[in-house]
Amino acid sequence: MKSDRLSPVGVFDSGVGGLSVLQHIRHILPHESLIYFADSAFAPYGDKSEADITERCLAVADFLQQKQIKALVVACNTATAAAIKTLREYYPDLIIIGMEPGLKPAALLSKEKIVGVMATQFTLQSEKFLHLKAHLTAETSVRFEEQACVGLVNQIEKGELRSVTTLKLVRQFVTPLLQSGADTLVLGCTHYPFVSSLIEQVIGEFQAERHASTQHIHLVDTGVAVALQLQRLLEQGGLSLQAIHRPPTLTAYTTSSKSSLRNAFSQLLKIPDSALQIFAITEMSPVVSHC
Ligand code: DGL
Repeated sequence: MKSDRLSPVGVFDSGVGGLSVLQHIRHILPHESLIYFADSAFAPYGDKSEADITERCLAVADFLQQKQIKALVVACNTATAAAIKTLREYYPDLIIIGMEPGLKPAALLSKEKIVGVMATQFTLQSEKFLHLKAHLTAETSVRFEEQACVGLVNQIEKGELRSVTTLKLVRQFVTPLLQSGADTLVLGCTHYPFVSSLIEQVIGEFQAERHASTQHIHLVDTGVAVALQLQRLLEQGGLSLQAIHRPPTLTAYTTSSKSSLRNAFSQLLKIPDSALQIFAITEMSPVVSHC
């Protein structure tokens, strides 16, 4: 069976981070049925090799493709950097939307022309990121200061959004960026919007301690842009649902525990258990990469 207008959109991430993108998709495209896939048993992706991440992405995409999705949103900067090209080669007829750290919007917002980029180690070392940074540095003369936030994804996966350990980590990552003079911070990992209040807290503390100007520091997250791009591509492909044809469904799969994902939906998005169906996946057939 082929996908059609009524088919769901698949959204996936290494874990719960992609929920920060899913919330915008639900808001912008309220009539679409959605399948969310959290590969939490393999999170974080950010410290894994390109080959390992690509293998996971292919297995997840294959699983979602079997659910007849009409579009795939790779709601993970790390997975996009590692595997988007391979995914497009495997599924040339499927709408596939990836994401990358919002360096371009940040460069436009930064008055000081210094932008801090928070992302995973893999994303910051990827060819895709280095190319984007070199291009924008040449074009805008903005300086990009990078910070690999090792350990932060794990805290968010554990649901520790406000714990002392998470605050310490955020302080350790954000302070050097502020010290470098950055007035704009890119949240280059879809997990990080869930600790934006801690990031704001650290910015406040930094400015108060140094009696620094309390200028607004922008936080750049590309979740909305991804949802809008999905809307455009569905419309172009004649696949968007403008009105309710039948009540949209929300289904979620996890390679870890159902209760953790249920808690994440409730804690992060305020979506109650009654509004979604959750399944735990124990086995997925590996897709052998021939690229
Ligand atoms: N949400 C993923 C991203 O956007 C997290 C990566 C990870 O699992 O390390 O990069």
